[in-house]
Amino acid sequence: MAPHAETNGGYSPLINGHHPGDSSREDQFIVNAPNVVYTDSTIKSSYIYHTTKVTRGSAGTLEAVPVETEFDFKVERKIPKVGLMLVGWGGNNGSTVTAGILANRKGLSWATREGVQSANYYGSVIMGSTVKLGSDAVTGDDVNVPFHKLLPMIHPNDFVLGGWDISGLNLADAMDRAKVLEPTLKILVRKEMEQMKPLPSIYYPDFIASNQGDRADNVLEGTTACREHLEKIRNDIRDFKQRNELDKVIVLWTANTERYADIITGVNDTAENILASIQNGHPEISPSSVFAVACILENVPFINGSPQNTFVPGVISLAEQHKSYIGGDDFKSGQTKMKSALVDFLISAGIKLTSIASYNHLGNKAQAVSIQGNLKIKCRR
Ligand SMILES: NC(=O)c1ccc[n+]([C@@H]2O[C@H](COP(=O)([O-])OP(=O)(O)OC[C@H]3O[C@@H](n4cnc5c(N)ncnc54)[C@H](O)[C@@H]3O)[C@@H](O)[C@H]2O)c1
Repeated sequence: MAPHAETNGGYSPLINGHHPGDSSREDQFIVNAPNVVYTDSTIKSSYIYHTTKVTRGSAGTLEAVPVETEFDFKVERKIPKVGLMLVGWGGNNGSTVTAGILANRKGLSWATREGVQSANYYGSVIMGSTVKLGSDAVTGDDVNVPFHKLLPMIHPNDFVLGGWDISGLNLADAMDRAKVLEPTLKILVRKEMEQMKPLPSIYYPDFIASNQGDRADNVLEGTTACREHLEKIRNDIRDFKQRNELDKVIVLWTANTERYADIITGVNDTAENILASIQNGHPEISPSSVFAVACILENVPFINGSPQNTFVPGVISLAEQHKSYIGGDDFKSGQTKMKSALVDFLISAGIKLTSIASYNHLGNKAQAVSIQGNLKIKCRR
């Protein structure tokens, strides 16, 4: 197994693998190959992807033809200043990731029942692991580099954080509500998190469990999609970017799991129809789809951390039209990923499962799936 990122020879991290302010540091390695070209601002490479196309003859014979597809990649070498806006910032995930980034940024340590704990990114595959680059030309030993040094990549400590929540609690109080972190750590990040307050969001009660209504005190007027909601979110993104002098913004949905949106011809099946349906306030347009559309129109990447069908066909075709990045289908980290892998393994071994039960490692709000539509999403296969 490749060694851990922090124990990798030749790399001396200051704060959890990060040299503060080192964004312009030299590359960890260079690739010396004819298909990789470095300029001052970019790394350009081409890659040939080999596949095989099979055609069936009338007599049942198969003909296999090798196919080559050439891909050209261009990566910017300058690491941009990036803002991360979370939808559902005041939730278990949102408040915990915020405290985690602050703790790493400040290099904090705190007492726990098990002893002193120091902030680190060991739970992150990208930040905590290494990749084998090749074999040493002289000794033949493996040479490993930190995963996050494979390409120019922003360090999580450098994210500027912000976002929306239907609950107006500041992030310090939201962290208490989530009941995830040790009290000793919370004391150390509390002051900074008290200053962080989510922007008001859109709340369409039909899409999430009714028991979330009690916390919905930070909402924009109106309970179905509308042009004003779309424009407000777009404006929030632009404003956040400008105020923090950011090069780029990424929006991440980490709000509640929504019920499935029905796919209706003429409503959310094409780019034009979904834009018109937002304008007309159609009740089948979910809040997450409105956020996705706002991001596409702002050309800001939108990542979905929940399992619902935010990316209805209209959202996908709009993203294609605007060449805007959308992705994600539930976070699927830790136990969720393990559960999916085990279920596949058991089913392919011929063992049919009746049910599988587990809990979210951050918080454990079973009530969030207490309405039938949301439960169906969490229980799909
Ligand atoms: N917690 C985990 O360990 C975990 C793991 C994998 C996936 N997930 C998924 O991530 C999502 C969030 O999980 P969580 O545990 O943080 O939930 P949570 O209930 O603690 O947080 C969700 C937050 O979203 C807010 N919210 C709801 N609708 C909103 C809207 N329209 N706009 C803005 N904010 C809104 C809520 O007020 C709440 O603060 C869920 O879909 C969950 O299934 C969670």
